[in-house]
Amino acid sequence: VPEIGCLSIIVLGASGDLAKKKTFPALFHLYCQGFLPPNEIKYVSGSYDAAEGFQMLDKEISKHETSKNSLEGSSRRLFYLALPPSLILGGWTRIVVEKPFGRDLGSAEELSSQIGELFDEPQIYRIDHYLGKELVQNLLVLRFANRFFLPLWNRDNIDNVQIVFREDFGTEGRGGYFDEYGIIRDIIQNHLLQVLCLVAMEKPVSLKPERIRDEKVKVLQSVLPIKDEEVVLGQYEGYRDDPTVPDHSNTPTFATVILRIHNERWEGVPFILKAGKALNSRKAEIRVQFKDVPGDIFKCKKQGRNEFVIRLQPSEAMYMKLMVKQPGLEMSTVQSELDLSYRQRYQGVTIPEAYERLILDTIRGDQQHFVRRDELKAAWEIFTPLLHRIDNGEMKPIPYQAGSRGPAEADELLEKAGYVQTHGY
Ligand code: BG6
Repeated sequence: VPEIGCLSIIVLGASGDLAKKKTFPALFHLYCQGFLPPNEIKYVSGSYDAAEGFQMLDKEISKHETSKNSLEGSSRRLFYLALPPSLILGGWTRIVVEKPFGRDLGSAEELSSQIGELFDEPQIYRIDHYLGKELVQNLLVLRFANRFFLPLWNRDNIDNVQIVFREDFGTEGRGGYFDEYGIIRDIIQNHLLQVLCLVAMEKPVSLKPERIRDEKVKVLQSVLPIKDEEVVLGQYEGYRDDPTVPDHSNTPTFATVILRIHNERWEGVPFILKAGKALNSRKAEIRVQFKDVPGDIFKCKKQGRNEFVIRLQPSEAMYMKLMVKQPGLEMSTVQSELDLSYRQRYQGVTIPEAYERLILDTIRGDQQHFVRRDELKAAWEIFTPLLHRIDNGEMKPIPYQAGSRGPAEADELLEKAGYVQTHGY
């Protein structure tokens, strides 16, 4: 056998008729012609439905590989499943894969191809736990089951959309992992982008998981290349004190990035994705800010705009900021809220943990809330050029104080994008 390393051929179902009549004779002929290693054949017995046999098999293969001093990673295992179809077809195998799914487009595609050789797409469950959050799952219902939103959800009415993730703690204990990836790979390219898809996608033709995922892919494919001037990176002071973080780390722990969706519904509407570690609060929310009322007879523009906020956590809530008459004798306006706070409205209902829900989906075989291969690819396509520029040191994070709002430049970018800060709620 020309390749280096050790080859093991594992025939499962070795006591069966096929093995006796065909598989072993064929292997024997190959052996006689010098195509197979010169010695060693082992028999390990066990039953298909008990773990012990497979554990023994694993031990046996590993022993064989070690005795052959095979180079690390060079062992080759060929599994020949000479099993009755009832044993293969009767059950199913699914795999759940956690991020990081690579670190850029190239590595992610390589990983996908490798996994793809072993499993078909319907068997692969790529987890993004934000898709298991109650209010993220609610987005489809909200958008497509409410007449209120249908005519408003577009560039004619919406000025800008913010999707924000903030944490009030740093990378404590995870500096080693985090420094390799940074906030864009850790949060924005996956969690926030998935949320963006659900906010921006067109109505799927049905609720079938594939139809929903088709629409998400289309949104991702419509995102224009990110402009450097629409990115602010930050790194909190003290991040490099972590012994697992290199002294000169260029890894952002904060980023604000504006994405622009080039389609009929969203052209001209900035989608502002913002995420940061070690900030002043812990919160994840979506803020949809509407345009000013034309011909504003109340001159209430300064008091704020209509805004629809979906708070994913903590304390799930949805609220609409709107103008009302200030109660009292004067005819003046004030900003108020229509508030649907889940804790109040659904007292006694326990909201399941994201992972709980997603694991149940994997058992049920529902892939709706998992990331399909083409979605992943499109997501990496959006961020890879920016990530490479950061990795090469061409873009640097701005230092910010731990416990602050992040770099002031991010607020300036927001303002430039058209966001109008309102106060109060
Ligand atoms: C993980 C990130 O995917 O999400 C972490 O790797 C982050 O850095 C976490 O803290 C946040 O999840 P949640 O559900 O607490 O918002």
